[in-house]
Amino acid sequence: MRKKVTVVGAGNVGATLAQRLAEMEMCDVVVVDIPQVEGMPAGKALDLMESGPILGYDSRVSGTTSYEATAGSDVVVITAGIPRKPGMSRDDLLKTNAGIVKSVTENVVRFSPDSVLIIVSNPLDAMCLVALKTSKFPKHRVLGMAGILDSSRMRSFICEALEVSVENVHAMVLGGHGDTMVPLPRFSTVNGIPITELLPQDKIAAINQRTRDGGAEIVKLLKTGSAFYAPSASAAEMVEAVLKDKKKILPCAAYLEGEYGVDGVFVGVPCKLGARGLEQIVQLNLSAEERAQLLKSATAVKQLAAALK
Ligand code: NAI
Ligand code: 2OP
Repeated sequence: MRKKVTVVGAGNVGATLAQRLAEMEMCDVVVVDIPQVEGMPAGKALDLMESGPILGYDSRVSGTTSYEATAGSDVVVITAGIPRKPGMSRDDLLKTNAGIVKSVTENVVRFSPDSVLIIVSNPLDAMCLVALKTSKFPKHRVLGMAGILDSSRMRSFICEALEVSVENVHAMVLGGHGDTMVPLPRFSTVNGIPITELLPQDKIAAINQRTRDGGAEIVKLLKTGSAFYAPSASAAEMVEAVLKDKKKILPCAAYLEGEYGVDGVFVGVPCKLGARGLEQIVQLNLSAEERAQLLKSATAVKQLAAALK
């Protein structure tokens, strides 16, 4: 029997994620949205099903506005919420999306009590906390997607600067998914060579800043919403790591209890993902400056989460 993944929110990120998962033929996919858009998730799902014969995938895709069809999902990805518009920060979405993520999580856990939850809705780190508290799941089954996206943006900019293949480039961005995120050039490499050996300081500083501004750069261009191709690819990588028990090390938002000197919040850190969800938090030996940046970012996440109380 194929694995089952529910994607909540059939908007830009959710629908594109459903497409990616179907095309990867890893699982059957159920897409859920709100009753106000009755017919929309079913329509998108049918369209995806009808692509299967051309592309050669047998994954079943269904769309619905009720949660019964999601029962027994192995992984649930929550993309429900409002996205940013120009001039808005991710934090401006706080109260609206917290209400949405809370009600979605309540529904999800009723039908899939053993699932791994992957949160995408913004502001990401605070929404993960809402999902953890609402679900009462153990922390290894609630994760947030952001670090893979931010690192992929950094990887793209490194590729561009050095004119090298994406296959050669790895990057590491930790911290909260916001302006305080922490790109780590020392841990960003081209076939094992740190970029600090390959690029001058000013170029690296520019790449770091473009990475931090990566979401806003897309919002400014799109004008009516935020990025969804790279975000859906990032979420798909997390789903794959869990379904295939890959034990892949990826930067993800995880609930920290003392790791990196941070306690009681979700922050992006290197995580080993496998069938259990979060299987290990990898503790890097950070320099004093890198550590200070990470703590500053964690403090910003904490302040935002406190605004929810
Ligand atoms: P979108 O507006 O295209 O789609 C959101 C969908 O959620 C809509 O179809 C809407 O009807 C649905 N929705 C709203 N309330 C719901 C509920 N209670 N139950 C089920 N569905 C509900 O937005 P998009 O671009 O797909 O973004 C979704 C969220 O993901 C936003 O909060 C955005 O900021 C966030 N995001 C986070 C990223 C990250 O790196 N963590 C990257 C990209 C987006
Ligand atoms: C992004 O970074 C909006 O969080 C989203 O593109």
